[in-house]
Amino acid sequence: QKIAVIVVAAGSGTRAGRADGPPKQYRSIGRRPILARSLGAFMALPAVGRIVCVIDPAFVAEYRTAIDGLAADPRLAEPVAGGATRQASVLAGLEALAPFAPDLVLIHDAARPFVAPVAITRLIDRLADIPAALLAHPVVDTLKQADADGRVIGTRARDGLWAAETPQGFRFAPLLDAHRRAAAEGRTDFTDDAAVAEWAGLPVAVVASEPGNLKITSLADLEAADRRLRMEEF
Ligand code: C5P
Repeated sequence: QKIAVIVVAAGSGTRAGRADGPPKQYRSIGRRPILARSLGAFMALPAVGRIVCVIDPAFVAEYRTAIDGLAADPRLAEPVAGGATRQASVLAGLEALAPFAPDLVLIHDAARPFVAPVAITRLIDRLADIPAALLAHPVVDTLKQADADGRVIGTRARDGLWAAETPQGFRFAPLLDAHRRAAAEGRTDFTDDAAVAEWAGLPVAVVASEPGNLKITSLADLEAADRRLRMEEF
């Protein structure tokens, strides 16, 4: 089966302090850029046949610098221009992959550089008998709902709740169809692709992730990851 990967990296990364540099996915933690680490986890898998990054064309120079060293891998396609939302960026990636006609597509946020190849393989294996699946971990915190003033309204049961991660994996054709329909119907509010699949009525499964598949969101996340890797890679 043909497996393709979309790494979405077209966000502005403002929460990680865009004012002081390029978007976070192009910055290094330890010795390597976040984007190169995210791509590397997929490139480590021989089953992956094609990888495309979705980027903001304003940062194509930063992209080229970040992938320097990986660009020799013929599976890495030319980058695709993203859209105004994550959902639009994913659709751009799916359309770019359509000529390649993959059986499966894995969609990953560039901001998760620590995903373990073993977890990706577990996700791929799950797609043998279901059209959509995502890496996730059970919620361990007690969940409070609060109003705008921070006043607690209630406590939500956490049993059966999973925190969604990426990658998320899908049979390609039904996911492309679901994304096209969502866009055509003006639905632009989906924050992950599993939600698009659910909306389209596809069965979706959670797959237990490995610990440490963190999303680097704030500047503090980036600095903490950088400090940790500098120690480890010293
Ligand atoms: O916005 P958020 O941080 O949840 O973004 C998750 C991922 O989606 C990031 O890797 C980001 O680069 C990507 N993204 C995108 N296009 C957008 C917005 C976000 O590719 N318009």
